Amino acid sequence: MATLQIEPLANWSRTHVCGAPRLSDVGIELTLLGWIERTRDHGGLVFADLRDKSGITQVVFETAELVEAARELRPEYVVAVRGTLRQRPAGSENPGIATGLVEVKAERLALLNRSRPLPYTIETGRRVSEELRLRWRFLDLRRPEMQSNLIRRHQIIRIIRNHFDDLGFVDVETPVLTKSTPEGARDYLVPSRVQQGKFFALPQSPQLFKQLLMISGFERYYQIVKCFRDEDLRSDRQPEFTQLDLEASFVREENIFEFIEPLVGRLIREVGGGTVTTPFPRISYDEAMLRFGSDKPDLRIPLEIVDISDWARDVDYRIFSDALQRRGVVRALRIPQAKNRSRRELDLLSERAVALGASGLLWIKVLEGGDISSAAKKALTDEARAALLSRLGAGAGDLVLICADRANIVAKVLGQLRLEVAASDLPAPTGFAPLWVNAFPLFEWSEADQRWESAHHPFTNLREEDIPLLDTDPGAIRATAYDLVLNGYEMGSGSIRIHDQELQGKIFAVLGLTDAQAREKFGFLLDALALGAPPHGGMALGMDRLVMVLVGADSIRDVIAFPKTNQAVCLLTQAPSAVDTAQLDLLGIAVTRPPAPQPPTTPGGCQPDSPGHTPQAASAS
Ligand code: AMO
Repeated sequence: MATLQIEPLANWSRTHVCGAPRLSDVGIELTLLGWIERTRDHGGLVFADLRDKSGITQVVFETAELVEAARELRPEYVVAVRGTLRQRPAGSENPGIATGLVEVKAERLALLNRSRPLPYTIETGRRVSEELRLRWRFLDLRRPEMQSNLIRRHQIIRIIRNHFDDLGFVDVETPVLTKSTPEGARDYLVPSRVQQGKFFALPQSPQLFKQLLMISGFERYYQIVKCFRDEDLRSDRQPEFTQLDLEASFVREENIFEFIEPLVGRLIREVGGGTVTTPFPRISYDEAMLRFGSDKPDLRIPLEIVDISDWARDVDYRIFSDALQRRGVVRALRIPQAKNRSRRELDLLSERAVALGASGLLWIKVLEGGDISSAAKKALTDEARAALLSRLGAGAGDLVLICADRANIVAKVLGQLRLEVAASDLPAPTGFAPLWVNAFPLFEWSEADQRWESAHHPFTNLREEDIPLLDTDPGAIRATAYDLVLNGYEMGSGSIRIHDQELQGKIFAVLGLTDAQAREKFGFLLDALALGAPPHGGMALGMDRLVMVLVGADSIRDVIAFPKTNQAVCLLTQAPSAVDTAQLDLLGIAVTRPPAPQPPTTPGGCQPDSPGHTPQAASAS
């Protein structure tokens, strides 16, 4: 017969949280409520680690009656303990936890709820597969690391709200059931029951509504808002994610930077524990692509690409002349004191470059005394070699990678090699390096569709002097668009908008929309632009990415309470799921491709309760 009985909470009143007791509190009486993390039976004594959201305290059960009761405790039982705080005996302190110098000598123990044996123990939660963690997400969220991530997310949101409230921004909610907003992804659709055959789209962003709010005269808007995009997923993308969205009237690009920089600086200091100086560096898209081969460079990596086309023009080497004749470029990446790579390893680098789209990669190893080892050695005169090394600042032990091809291919290849070589040769970067990238192209040519597409979105303005290029050379137009980049992630994106109806119509035309199509999709915006639209602009920051970088998490999923997998599935609730035919009938929908049979959904499922059960071993990922 079990001695531990379930008691109502009404019998108990918590005096302290588990993370609170300190040496200075020794002697006090306290009542703790929480979860049993684990117990250790030492014969005459039972130790238990009691956990709540603030931390862990060790509890000791010493009297025969309490020891007998404590032996019935299992991991994740919810209990109440009353006792006296005392200093731990010398040698048994635990410097790893804040309460490690003290323990509670239990005087009363009660059960508030039992737990069945767990699919894995909370302690081993970091090491089990992510699939298992997501399936049992409510257990995963009991881990201190996950609790800390979500608590810090909350702190970040509080700081953001204070910041924008202080600047006079108004938080306005925008619709979730809406019309498609083009942000480059596919829409999630919601069928209408009342208007059969018609669909709402979940917003990819509140872009058009925030512009309408400027036209309504709110002048400063912000919102922390869910957005939905049906796109290919990876570690920094979710189908359902959160934006810090803002918009302001009568602003230039500079004003948006002034709103954001102090906020991001404060978050880096207060949440990330880092330092940062303002103003953040600002570089144009063209410069970013040239120097880093990326429009989201991680400035903490001390490697830069250098254009050496003018040098290569004077060198008699076919790879260079072929590329330059085809209006390509020759660029170099110097890796100072590179890892000593064998011939085979250097060949692998070349193979990697080819896999990334280059026709080849030339490497030069710089030896003692300014000599080099390279396939191009014979083609380089002493002067050419010296000029190159001096141009790149290269010395003995350095490795130079050279790529000759079309500019976009060279940028992609050297940009990616910059990241990969840094990962293998350099210490992992630390700290925070924010920057602005601006002057993006307004349009990108889509080979697949043989038409221009917006590089940002179709509501982005352009410099006035570029307007004539709309008729002659759309690819040369620069947008008044900017990205905030942090540690190699695109953290946010925005632009000054078009506020002139005629110009907006012209952009739709360049994008291939007929007048009728433009009206059908965006008639409400065109009407609003014609009725007193102020100049305006704004941006949106990816909240999940921001939290991920600030707390140092590896994946966006570690800072979202209930995320989806890369297959856009919630393993906890098994959404999305099939629905009743009756529900579909009501919506006037017939499914022509029924869902494939579901794989087993309960890895490591719950076992029925059994006294004396030892928890199942965690399955390692
Ligand atoms: P954009 O599409 O660039 O701009 O999105 C802004 C920021 O949102 C984040 N983000 C995502 N985060 C997680 N998962 C995703 N699937 C995802 N997609 C985007 C990124 C990105 O920088 N309306 C414009 C903003 C504006 O012009 O004001 C917009 O949504 O961090």
